[in-house]
Amino acid sequence: MQVRRCAHVMIEPRERLDFDLALLATGGTGLRSVIEWIALAPHRDTEVVLSLDEVAVLGVVSPEQWLSLDELAQSHPREVLDALLEKQLLIADATGDTGARAADKALRDAHWRGLDAIAHRYSRWRGVDTVEAQRRFGEETDQTFLQRLGDAPVQVREWVDPAQRQALSAAGSSALDALLARRVTCRNYELTQNLSFADFSTAMYRAFGARAVDEYAPGIFLLKKGAPSAGGLHPVEAYVLVQRVDSIAPGLYHYHPAAHALEPIREMPADELTALAKVCLGGQPYFAQAHVVIALTGRFVRNFWKYRNHAKAYRAVILDAGHLSQILYLAATELGLGAFVTAGVNEVQIEQAFGLEPMAEGPLAMCGFGIRGVERNEVEFDPNHAVWPADKPNPV
Ligand SMILES: Cc1cc2nc3c(=O)[nH]c(=O)nc-3n(C[C@H](O)[C@H](O)[C@H](O)COP(=O)(O)O)c2cc1C
Repeated sequence: MQVRRCAHVMIEPRERLDFDLALLATGGTGLRSVIEWIALAPHRDTEVVLSLDEVAVLGVVSPEQWLSLDELAQSHPREVLDALLEKQLLIADATGDTGARAADKALRDAHWRGLDAIAHRYSRWRGVDTVEAQRRFGEETDQTFLQRLGDAPVQVREWVDPAQRQALSAAGSSALDALLARRVTCRNYELTQNLSFADFSTAMYRAFGARAVDEYAPGIFLLKKGAPSAGGLHPVEAYVLVQRVDSIAPGLYHYHPAAHALEPIREMPADELTALAKVCLGGQPYFAQAHVVIALTGRFVRNFWKYRNHAKAYRAVILDAGHLSQILYLAATELGLGAFVTAGVNEVQIEQAFGLEPMAEGPLAMCGFGIRGVERNEVEFDPNHAVWPADKPNPV
């Protein structure tokens, strides 16, 4: 069997506290500090603890050259090599663990920079319920969340005395000002009325549609959208959970930005779809009720094809997603609709729902839009009463 090291691995000495009954019996707290070597290898879903012998072997096996396992065993303990194969940090050739090899290959093919790959892989959530976590926090402590945090840093950084500032002219009041003033993250959606097909289509086109597809160089096509994108590559995709839109069956779709069309993935009963939306949205029920919920994914392979192992590439893909979500807010607001964006998402469940290989194409955020509800049951930040009149304050 031939083996090589996985493409990327970083090793962190991490401290944890262990409970030891013997220490308690001798009059101590029962707590003991343990420092372990943790391998962070972004082709794996989970971190793994290493022995010092395993760390040493990882430090001498090439991630590029295939070597004979039997030859390696002449200079390194066989049980250490076997343990590293079991932990998927050594990758075997065609005769070994096919899952580990495929996951490692996906990372290599995408040209990830190691640090970014680790940040992406290990910041993904699976089955996190943020609302439940908040409720548990409330039960576990008598402090409010804000008390626990202490004083907030000042809201605006000031470098000089007010007298030294150079005042700027007023912006006037254009249609853009009026639109921006009405942009309020919507957490209250109308549940009984469908969004019209026309409004759905218009918002999708303005936020995500391509206004041109240009052959920039032979075989290299760039998209022109309303939002900027690093290198004009537009690697961010929109996967849509259509819940209540006229003439569209509830289900999962992919939006094709050049054809301005939905690609059906799976139809789903409405209640199942809302349950899936809620799980994907980290348990946030108010967003799960939007007529349209969208997972924004970064197709890393497309951006990293150009920006290989590049220090800014991952950041650029995330920025692209932010630009698209802001246009969605504006497009929805102009149509008199509400919109939201959230980073509190369960990436793993989104990947599973849409069948995505996480390191080739992974969720970055979710957004959505729909008809605003008439009741304000959930909190919205509308201090200027642009959406909600003063006599409809936030619920307490
Ligand atoms: C990156 C990002 C992540 C956000 N995540 C959440 C979230 O998890 N839950 C939520 O209710 N709102 C979320 N929001 C919305 C913000 O709470 C909202 O923008 C903020 O309260 C200000 O309100 P406004 O958008 O109406 O001005 C997020 C916004 C951004 C830009």
